[in-house]
Amino acid sequence: MFDITGKKAIITGGAQGLGLTMAETFQKMGAEVAVIDISDEVYNVPAKLNETNVLVHAVKGNLLDLDQLKDSFSEALEKLGGKVDILINNAGMIQRKPALEFSIETWNRILGLNVTSVFELSRLAAVEMKKQGSGKIINMGSILSVLGGYNAAAYSTSKGAILQLTKSLSNEWAEFGIQVNAIAPGYMLTTMNDDLMNDPVRAPQVEARIPAKRWGTAEDVAGVALFLASPASDYVTGTLIPVDGGVLAR
Ligand SMILES: NC(=O)c1ccc[n+]([C@@H]2O[C@H](COP(=O)([O-])OP(=O)(O)OC[C@H]3O[C@@H](n4cnc5c(N)ncnc54)[C@H](O)[C@@H]3O)[C@@H](O)[C@H]2O)c1
Repeated sequence: MFDITGKKAIITGGAQGLGLTMAETFQKMGAEVAVIDISDEVYNVPAKLNETNVLVHAVKGNLLDLDQLKDSFSEALEKLGGKVDILINNAGMIQRKPALEFSIETWNRILGLNVTSVFELSRLAAVEMKKQGSGKIINMGSILSVLGGYNAAAYSTSKGAILQLTKSLSNEWAEFGIQVNAIAPGYMLTTMNDDLMNDPVRAPQVEARIPAKRWGTAEDVAGVALFLASPASDYVTGTLIPVDGGVLAR
């Protein structure tokens, strides 16, 4: 039921953080993975994950540039032998700053990566998935898909959009056998949260808000991603699954 052996997966932003752990988990579970990332670090991913014989491919590309996005998708698809069963739209960025100090350029970059690239990649993948009558699209939302957050207006707007985009695409593509779902990580121990974890005022406030009384790990997210990528979730679509130690339930 949770078997993804032989499935072909594209994971964006997989050079580090949550994406890297999902790539590692998926290849350990027998999937063939293509990682797309803007960082040169992406070229080290296949060597990092080479404990098994399952294939891992690296594609360097800037998903903010729509030509590069299309080329990266084509390259990943080619490396996967022309098939994609799973797309994880994981690449994302944040800038924490008061709204009054936020530059419109940064606003556009955050919306461009966190929303527009997700829409474009999902459409490219859905063309392939529709042909085969099956597919899994997993979008990375956030607890800020639901909460407003603080000093993160562009990010929470983008992640709110991910929730709506997930529902919209799910409505359109469920009949083609494509499930579109989102994961809402809470406060995770990744470099994205370095500022927060190192803030002597905010860090204890955050910790006090987590019913599980600990920050999340990349493995916490990878388990839910595996569920959403496997046949176990074939009748689950249009949802946002929190992986947040209970934060959204407060
Ligand atoms: N870390 C958290 O606490 C947390 C919480 C909620 C949601 N999320 C979401 O999970 C996802 C992954 O988070 P993370 O903490 O692993 O992030 P991260 O910053 O560690 O990794 C993001 C990856 O995306 C890549 N990337 C950035 N810009 C890119 C671009 N223009 N084109 C291609 N690749 C690009 C980076 O090189 C990096 O490898 C993001 O969508 C994030 O919003 C994270």
